[in-house]
Amino acid sequence: MTIKFSSDDLSATKHLHNKNVKTGIAYPEALNDVVSPENSAIARDEIHQWDAYAPTPLHELSALAGEIGIGNIYYKDEATRFGLGSFKALGGAYEVLWALTREISNRVGETVSMADVRSGKYKDVAAGITVVSATDGNHGRSVAWGARNFGCGCRIYVHAEVSKARCDAVEDNDATLVRVDGDYDESVRACAQEAADNGWFIVSDTSYPGYMDLPRAAMAGYTVMVEEIISDLNGQMPTHVFVQAGCGGLATAVCGHLWTHYGADRPRFAIVEPTFAPCLYNACVNGPEDIFIIQEESVMAGLSCGEISQLAWQVLDPCIDDFIAIPDGTIAPVMRALATGTGSDPKVVAGESAVAGLAALIACMQRDDLAPAMNLGSDSRVLLIGSEGATDPDIYEAMVGSPPANL
Ligand SMILES: Cc1ncc(COP(=O)(O)O)c(C=O)c1O
Repeated sequence: MTIKFSSDDLSATKHLHNKNVKTGIAYPEALNDVVSPENSAIARDEIHQWDAYAPTPLHELSALAGEIGIGNIYYKDEATRFGLGSFKALGGAYEVLWALTREISNRVGETVSMADVRSGKYKDVAAGITVVSATDGNHGRSVAWGARNFGCGCRIYVHAEVSKARCDAVEDNDATLVRVDGDYDESVRACAQEAADNGWFIVSDTSYPGYMDLPRAAMAGYTVMVEEIISDLNGQMPTHVFVQAGCGGLATAVCGHLWTHYGADRPRFAIVEPTFAPCLYNACVNGPEDIFIIQEESVMAGLSCGEISQLAWQVLDPCIDDFIAIPDGTIAPVMRALATGTGSDPKVVAGESAVAGLAALIACMQRDDLAPAMNLGSDSRVLLIGSEGATDPDIYEAMVGSPPANL
């Protein structure tokens, strides 16, 4: 299926080369405070023990790659992650375990291990602890799932626009759902206030001054996915990585971990965001303290974020080569193309936020100025992160024209 974006969508696609990027150097030791091989190894050793753990597939979409004019596409397909539909399961649930382990250690007066908490050794203590989070979908589902697995209470705060399917997915994991009038920021405020009033523990995927430990753990959890990719690539290095971003945690785990692995010869890294919420692109232009005010919600719900993760920025600023913002109009055609499949490529069920990297890649190949600017051509092997499956089946069907296939 040939994808041809409209000229409006192509001209709305924005690209910025990051002048602060450091190329040709090994991963700086100072950044180990954000993403480090040590923290990745701890997360990997723990998460590999979880009952439902299984690596997700890395698809080669070589027919599609040929059609758009590049050498190959590797698509990491997170649709099947823990039966929760997105990579977020590696972060939110791991944060819950991390937070519980720290709090239980405090309460029993000795250092306990994540394995002990997971095994239920402290289940009476865990039952007296409540974790809370504000979310627009995937993160809350992952936190709720982690809380159920590790035996603590959980309340998830959602704003007025969060779809019923995404709320049901949270409640299916036994969490209490709290609907808040207003937008995402209102739900964050309500969550923070009630947590402070009741001694509950906030489990957020984004960092801010004074709140770094749990987002750091989430990023370590996401690197488990990156390790799987490296193993499946079997020695082949991508030339480019296109990774989508909300607050930047996923991109930091992907690019940071690949940088620790490949060193000075790392691939070229591009961050992709919706034009409605380009908070990292904005940080590159106006500085990391500047908040992007969202005027309209993007269809890419997981990427609709106005505030960057401050911890993530420490890695992203020196490591991202290109920032790209894409309009919402590019998303449905790419979801349909993946659902249909190209030639002998596998068919892929990909949600709205999952296809952002591919949409940006295609837009760059269809813009005469961008492919050469980013050194994209027939020799390029591009890694994409298919960060979710059909996490909202109704929205998926409305965009693709058929329900998600059971692949
Ligand atoms: C499916 C999906 N992809 C990508 C992202 C972006 O992740 P981050 O906010 O860590 O940048 C999210 C965030 O919720 C998501 O749900």
